[in-house]
Amino acid sequence: MKLLVVGGGGREHAIISKLKEKKNVEKIYVLPGNGGIAKDAECVNISATDIDSIVKFAVDSGIDYAVVAPDDPLVLGCVDELEAKGIPCFGPRKNAAIIEGSKVFSKNLMKKYGIPTAEYEVFDDSAKALEYVKTAPIPTVIKADGLALGKGVIIAQTREEAENAVKSIMNDKQFGKSGDKIVIEEFLTGPEVSVLSFTDGKTVVPMVSSMDHKRAGDNDTGLNTGGMGTIAPNPYYTKAVADECMEKIFLPTIKAMNAEGRTFKGCLYFGLMITENGPKVIEYNCRFGDPETQVVLPLLESDLLDVMTAVTEERLSDIEVKFRNEFAACVVMASKGYPVKYDKGFEITIPENLEAKVFVAGAKLENGKLLTSGGRVLGVTATADTLKNAIDKAYNEVKKIHFDNAFFRSDIGARALKALEE
Ligand code: AMP
Ligand code: GLY
Repeated sequence: MKLLVVGGGGREHAIISKLKEKKNVEKIYVLPGNGGIAKDAECVNISATDIDSIVKFAVDSGIDYAVVAPDDPLVLGCVDELEAKGIPCFGPRKNAAIIEGSKVFSKNLMKKYGIPTAEYEVFDDSAKALEYVKTAPIPTVIKADGLALGKGVIIAQTREEAENAVKSIMNDKQFGKSGDKIVIEEFLTGPEVSVLSFTDGKTVVPMVSSMDHKRAGDNDTGLNTGGMGTIAPNPYYTKAVADECMEKIFLPTIKAMNAEGRTFKGCLYFGLMITENGPKVIEYNCRFGDPETQVVLPLLESDLLDVMTAVTEERLSDIEVKFRNEFAACVVMASKGYPVKYDKGFEITIPENLEAKVFVAGAKLENGKLLTSGGRVLGVTATADTLKNAIDKAYNEVKKIHFDNAFFRSDIGARALKALEE
């Protein structure tokens, strides 16, 4: 089989590593991939948002199955275009990817179908939004409607911050057209849990839960990032919480999408907050999360390609999706200065035979050398019989990897360990 993976970060590297375990996979192409992924798949220099070129490449190369991993191509309808050429895909069609592509859509969906989420108002007029924040409870949460490279959520701690957020999103168009509409919502508190799920529109199979670490610094200080590390499973996601989520969130979401004529097939990501009043949806993503995928897929015991094709062919209920009863920890190594300003081009050395998987996110190959090319450079994932062992093992291997200006959080999993002790 010839496979195509669209995307080029740590998540895609984790997906490719898993797909490679299947024996009848003869070739994996990745568009565009990166210098680190090049070890495991053939990188082709086509951008993940250049849908026409992706489709042409897939047709010309005789691709048997495609996995579209990032949000932008999904929201742009990459799956629809590939399917139109007869190429089966993993990932939602455009009309279902809107669950991530428009926060206004997803909030209205949850309201219409009684799915627990933060209270909210929608605005398409900045004057009305500014009027509203004058009396809104503080802190308040302001979200650009469309995709904004993960930066479209602002938690305003003061009224002034809220006003500035409205102005920069709606008037100054900080995120372009993504800010034509905004959602202003209630600030919720509680531990956060990420649950990725496989769904074919009929059955939903949650994967092992995980916990992201979004802030750049230890003890959740500093700026928000694309994720500085993850652990799985998440200790706050107890059996009781999982049952409640299935009943009140997961199944109702799948049914709601069907009722709207927008059947979702692929990986549906539930970003949850476990509040005093039960679990609530913070966000939906129409794809595998990153870096969550870097801890979730290493724990998957079943064959990933078998599960993905079962989703595509709508026979997910016929197969068993098994996860290992172990723990995983992923520590992201980033470039000093990330997520603001950082230097690039430093040589990365990764020894052979590490007791961890290295998923490369921001690196390029130049004259046979692997050089840093992004803020988040790579993720180091270890699995073990206890969470503590997984964390210790990941940090132990991190020490063996080198590039100038590397930085990483030293407390990935610390909160989860504490929760396990309580
Ligand atoms: P998102 O981009 O939707 O994942 O939001 C980024 C982060 O903002 C989430 O992971 C939460 O930590 C936080 N957040 C989003 N919405 C809320 C909310 N209503 N209350 C509190 N925190 C929130
Ligand atoms: N880790 C959060 C995301 O993938 O959006």
